[in-house]
Amino acid sequence: MAADYPTMKTAEIRSAYLNFFESKGCKLYPSSSLVPDDPSLLLANAGMNQFKEFYQGKKVMKEIGACSCQKCVRTNDIDIIGADGRHASFFEMLGNFAFGGVTKEQACTWAYELITEVFKLPKDRLYFTVFTEDDETESVWRSLGVPADHITRLGEDDNFWAAGPTGPCGPCSEIYFDLGEEVGCGCPDCAPGCDCDRFLEFWNLVFTQYDGQEDGTLAPLPTKNIDTGMGLERMAAIMQGVQSNYETDVMRDLISVGERLSGKSYKENAESDLSLRIIADHSRSVTFMIADGILPSNEGRGYVLRRLLRRAVMHAHKLGIEGAFLSNYVDAIVRLMGHVYPEVVDNRELVERVILSEEERFGVTLRQGQAYLADALEKLEGTVLDGATAFTLHDTYGFPVEITEEICADANITVDKEGFEACMDQQRERARAATKDDAEAAWSTYGG
Ligand code: ALA
Repeated sequence: MAADYPTMKTAEIRSAYLNFFESKGCKLYPSSSLVPDDPSLLLANAGMNQFKEFYQGKKVMKEIGACSCQKCVRTNDIDIIGADGRHASFFEMLGNFAFGGVTKEQACTWAYELITEVFKLPKDRLYFTVFTEDDETESVWRSLGVPADHITRLGEDDNFWAAGPTGPCGPCSEIYFDLGEEVGCGCPDCAPGCDCDRFLEFWNLVFTQYDGQEDGTLAPLPTKNIDTGMGLERMAAIMQGVQSNYETDVMRDLISVGERLSGKSYKENAESDLSLRIIADHSRSVTFMIADGILPSNEGRGYVLRRLLRRAVMHAHKLGIEGAFLSNYVDAIVRLMGHVYPEVVDNRELVERVILSEEERFGVTLRQGQAYLADALEKLEGTVLDGATAFTLHDTYGFPVEITEEICADANITVDKEGFEACMDQQRERARAATKDDAEAAWSTYGG
């Protein structure tokens, strides 16, 4: 599909977006760390995270608003990452934010101006969703010239946004680009919100007016606020006239690293394409997480890192890549993204060291673990792998249980997660008892 509007590189889109909002008086903020300054969040997952206290009225910004390009990690969709072209564990989010000083009408008008006059997207390919009860936003889009049949009302699942279970949230309006009938499902009622690939959501405008409480209630915030997020990789796919984020300039370069290392060509074989995409995506999460000080571990964000890193190693093995390989991706990430995120340049040595040590640790046991699992699956009667086997894979071979689940899913087998958790609990209990024994022994030696 050739684009019938000007094409733009990822870096050009990033600058155009930020320049536009700076010209409107918004203050440019650098991306915050992936480790949020907020105990309710594991990892930075949206541009608004760093502005939480402005939304809550605890801090006041003297400018009309803010804008940023935020690095984000989301792993809730990990199973489909790589399987489609639009989900990623790491992505950049372009955003603009306001805390009482910008109306809904103003925010929508700016958004429309940016996409139609700066990015020059054809108006007939733009579609909008609004929250079921939000008549005001629908009339704003209509007043900007959007035809009624390009606006869909959707409920809470699609058009109400929150960063996490608590904190600032509100109804939202999303902007979609029509990639064309040929990529759609062909159903007569196909519209934004449909599961098919035709309408690509690329910008979410949240009207942040509530503060979600621990008890699930929504307390009104002191001001009516704006929080928008445009997926940079999705916008790059649109602006480069390609169907998938992985075919955009930056991501395609990372796919090439895998092609070079494996000797396989992209778009020749569905299975190797999937692995090439997964490693291209995960290598960015892993690099940025370590650059922000996260280390692999068995819990919390360290576990997310370990899981992504080991999943990348597993897919490299599938591609026939032998030995440590991820530093090749780090090189490319530094080259492609270091000018925007100096932390990957400054912490490059640390990133490479941590990755190498984790690759070596997992590399030693990976093949044995795969053989152990293949044997267990061969002997398996029924469709559920027992928890004890999943536990041995975790404990002896370093397989995060989600990786075991993924391999099993390929064979239509599920894993007994409860049984696995029970084995984990027993292990924790043994570790606690051992620590107690050690402490008692130490006491009797030194204290007796
Ligand atoms: N915070 C909103 C989102 O992530 C804009 O979609």
